[in-house]
Amino acid sequence: MREYLIAGNWKMNKTPSEAAALAKEILPLVKNSTSKVMVAPSFVCIPAVAEVIKGSNIILAAQNMATATEGAHTGETSVLMLKELGVEVVILGHSERRHIYGETNEMINEKVKLALANGLKVDLCIGELLEEREAGKAEAVCYEQLEKGLAGLSKADMANVMIAYEPVWAIGTGKTATPADAEAIHAACRGKIAQLFDEATAQATNIQYGGSVKPDNVKELMAMENIDGGLIGGASLTAPSFGALANFDK
Ligand code: PGA
Repeated sequence: MREYLIAGNWKMNKTPSEAAALAKEILPLVKNSTSKVMVAPSFVCIPAVAEVIKGSNIILAAQNMATATEGAHTGETSVLMLKELGVEVVILGHSERRHIYGETNEMINEKVKLALANGLKVDLCIGELLEEREAGKAEAVCYEQLEKGLAGLSKADMANVMIAYEPVWAIGTGKTATPADAEAIHAACRGKIAQLFDEATAQATNIQYGGSVKPDNVKELMAMENIDGGLIGGASLTAPSFGALANFDK
């Protein structure tokens, strides 16, 4: 049985003190959640949040990492730094990284392999642009992002990989994919993972949906067979909203 994961991607929001305050407010609201709960603060907020959530059921994640472990990479953050701060999961290939900062599938694959080699779990984001969906290419884009993003991984590696399907046109826009549209891509992606690895690996892989998930649409999305959680931006930034998401009515 796959467990649900409710993950907050705080993006470039909150200063360290604000992030710590949000984490403190979230703690009691999610402590009895029957889903796994994760938060991804910005790099500089990670130490403050780590301190607050230490020993709790909240999983600490980072939003990105460098393709190298150390050296002359001005402005980058290494997997070793994240590990030392207690980060367990790194979100890689978020659409904002792909489309604003030009990350390629190849670069993302390097990061995936480096994270796994250093004992971090990966939440690999995939998803199509609006024009790709309108051109009937949504599945093909996701297949390519999966194939290239997961290149070189073994079945054993996949135990430490999760996927987040986030149609780019639904992120931060208030437009959510219908549960049926999201389910169709989730099922297709699970099929692709089965083809790349095997059926047992595909069945065990957590695939979250992301893109304008909110307390009032979470239940119908999570009711879909192949949707195993949510990667949530805007609605994860206040404690009552994130608490409601983490405790959605199953
Ligand atoms: P959103 O962002 O919930 O604000 O649409 C989701 C994401 O980008 O992870």
